[in-house]
Amino acid sequence: MNLLGVYIHWPYCARICPYCDFNVLRDRGREVEQRALKDAILADLRRHRALTGPRELTSIFLGGGTPSLMDPDWAGEMIALCKSLWTPAADLEITLEANPTDAESGRFSGFADAGVQRLSLGVQALDDASLALLGRNHGADEARRAAALGAKTFPRLSLDLIYARPDQTAQAWRAELAETIALGAEHLSPYQLTIEAGTAFDRAVKRGTLVPVAEDLAAELFDVTQQVLTDHGFTAYEVSNHARGQAARSRHNLVYWRGQDYVGVGPGAHGRLTLEGARTATFAAARPADYIAKVAGTGLGWATREALTGQQAAEERLLAGLRIEEGVSFAEIAALALTPVHPEVLDLIGAGLLAPDPDRLRATPAGRLVLNWVTSRLALA
Ligand SMILES: C[S@@+](CC[C@H](N)C(=O)[O-])C[C@H]1O[C@@H](n2cnc3c(N)ncnc32)[C@H](O)[C@@H]1O
Ligand code: SF4
Repeated sequence: MNLLGVYIHWPYCARICPYCDFNVLRDRGREVEQRALKDAILADLRRHRALTGPRELTSIFLGGGTPSLMDPDWAGEMIALCKSLWTPAADLEITLEANPTDAESGRFSGFADAGVQRLSLGVQALDDASLALLGRNHGADEARRAAALGAKTFPRLSLDLIYARPDQTAQAWRAELAETIALGAEHLSPYQLTIEAGTAFDRAVKRGTLVPVAEDLAAELFDVTQQVLTDHGFTAYEVSNHARGQAARSRHNLVYWRGQDYVGVGPGAHGRLTLEGARTATFAAARPADYIAKVAGTGLGWATREALTGQQAAEERLLAGLRIEEGVSFAEIAALALTPVHPEVLDLIGAGLLAPDPDRLRATPAGRLVLNWVTSRLALA
């Protein structure tokens, strides 16, 4: 049976962070809507089963937004339903994204009882000034406590960090990373701060009240990240994802990067399904009210679906595959007519950006740094 992942989007947050451009909204005063959304997500999952047929379920990912604000019993309903609709793989991964506030940590055991076995905790930084700058609703000690409790409560723990923050130095980042590693997670996702269009940070940069770090410092901070994590036994299996050992790698991320099918439910969720032989991109309605109405009217939360052409599917597969160490086989991207001896491939191997491999296109660490450029050259070839 082909593997399947499930992504469930829970869009509510206690506070909207000034850098974030995910599909999010404040959770206050939305209790009635939230219950209706939970029921719509359950219905959407059931309807998806009719489309996918029987499949082996490799991952369930409750993401957001802040799904740790959800009632753990609701998470339990969603997880139990997925496990009854599809056949759980022996190593089924069930992840919950959480913010590290004391209120949410207090409910970790409820989420563990609901079936969550991997916590992805948004620590972001380990000093109060940086957390204030990032507009977070927790301090560094609260994040340390949440990480310690997360490590005890769940078999697997991943921590998110944001670096290349204004005023950050390489020395301070090195120390902060070492402290984060000591918190005991076997998976770390350090993301370089991106100024996303339309966010409060974007407006602050335009006003001149926020100054992003210079490009050369950002590059130095990236190098420090790779070096410190490698020294501590982590492998960068993707540009921003580091794991200690194979088993610690996120199976959910690998579903995306290996081009496997995944169901996307909840407001604004994307999915990729093979339907009538075509890889199909699905996009759920972004506003909860619209999503709930779509599910009520059609059984599915989709606002749009698009069958990708063979060329589009292969380009997407290339882009995703080159992000990870293992790359992508030439056979999977046959529509692009790339071979191990194609002049563009040989050129990129010569430049040290692709690894020489007769079966697969694989980016080297240097190639993964300039991935957009590498993939656009290959796609144009
Ligand atoms: C869906 S969000 C977070 C989940 C959770 N609500 C939280 O804030 O901890 C996933 C991760 O994306 C990262 N992220 C979001 N916006 C970012 C940005 N503009 N630049 C860098 N990283 C970002 C953060 O590290 C965040 O933890
Ligand atoms: S970073 Fe997390 S808490 Fe902040 S707005 Fe985005 S999803 Fe919500």
